[in-house]
Amino acid sequence: MKAAQFSEYGGPEVIQVVEADKPTPMENQVLVEVHDSSINPFDTSIRAGYMKEMIPLELPVTLGGDIAGEVIEIGSDVSGFAVGDKVYGQANVVAGNSGAFAQFSATKAEQVAIMPSNLDYLESASLPLVGASALQALTQHINLQPGQKIFIHGGGGGIGTIAIQIAKNIGAHIATTATGEQIELVKKLGADEVIDYKSADFSEVLSDYDAAFDTVGGEEFTKTFNILKSGGVAVSMIAEVDEAKASERGISAFRQQTHVTTKVLDELRVLVEAGVVTPQVDKVFSLDDIQAAFKAKEEGTVSGKIVLKIKD
Ligand SMILES: NC(=O)c1ccc[n+]([C@@H]2O[C@H](COP(=O)([O-])OP(=O)(O)OC[C@H]3O[C@@H](n4cnc5c(N)ncnc54)[C@H](OP(=O)(O)O)[C@@H]3O)[C@@H](O)[C@H]2O)c1
Repeated sequence: MKAAQFSEYGGPEVIQVVEADKPTPMENQVLVEVHDSSINPFDTSIRAGYMKEMIPLELPVTLGGDIAGEVIEIGSDVSGFAVGDKVYGQANVVAGNSGAFAQFSATKAEQVAIMPSNLDYLESASLPLVGASALQALTQHINLQPGQKIFIHGGGGGIGTIAIQIAKNIGAHIATTATGEQIELVKKLGADEVIDYKSADFSEVLSDYDAAFDTVGGEEFTKTFNILKSGGVAVSMIAEVDEAKASERGISAFRQQTHVTTKVLDELRVLVEAGVVTPQVDKVFSLDDIQAAFKAKEEGTVSGKIVLKIKD
């Protein structure tokens, strides 16, 4: 089978599309014929070696996490799936799977679910990590309520575009940061206030918010504390929590670790089928053009997601 692998850490140029052995599913895995995948910043971190001390890998490995495809084989301990099921989920090597950017992927059954019936494979492949992240943050950590005010930092990105839609459905007032073509998109998705992050500082414009959801990281996360009411909640996808600052401001702050599970993917499917969440695919590349796909992600502004088409 064709697989996009890297055998040394580095930029997009280290990724090579090679002939690799088709994986064999373990007892707790399903073998998926991958139709489409999508790129996440985590894939860049793995490929660039940013996490090589924390997550040592034996190279070469097949890159990628998000998949949508058809189940073609089932491990002996797996229940709840059948050959022919259309599934979406995660197939990351770091979680003990065989990787997503390949024609076939062996992945733990607990990391996939039946994909939304109203989507094709391409749209479904854009959702697993970003959809699970947005859902987990807004419903579990923040427990967002109708009428509350939430600030979503990085609203035009993969997680941000889904988080805006979920927050809108809950009935919250949404402020967000975006730039360029993302601005019209986030308004269309439901943002009430949009701040162009290249020309204004959100912390000088917003105040009295109930919650902040940060997808940008660094010092930007701590800055969100300043716009919250006492008792507010701040969640970051990336940044460490400055506990002293959080307690000084009287807020709760968390760094989220997303768990892409069948349960959360099932919840996401319900929202997609109800028309609450619509996938946001900006560009599509073929597997052979994977280097260009990563360059587009890492060098430009993307509205939502970049998808890799693997099966024509
Ligand atoms: N902890 C976990 O389990 C977990 C899970 C999933 C994701 N993550 C992390 O969460 C982060 C977001 O993921 P994602 O998939 O949403 O990434 P993404 O699609 O790259 O979105 C990030 C967005 O932030 C925008 N941005 C960059 N700098 C900004 C600034 N100074 N102010 C406002 N917006 C800014 C980007 O705009 P441009 O396009 O203009 O740069 C982009 O739209 C990533 O760092 C990812 O690694 C963590």
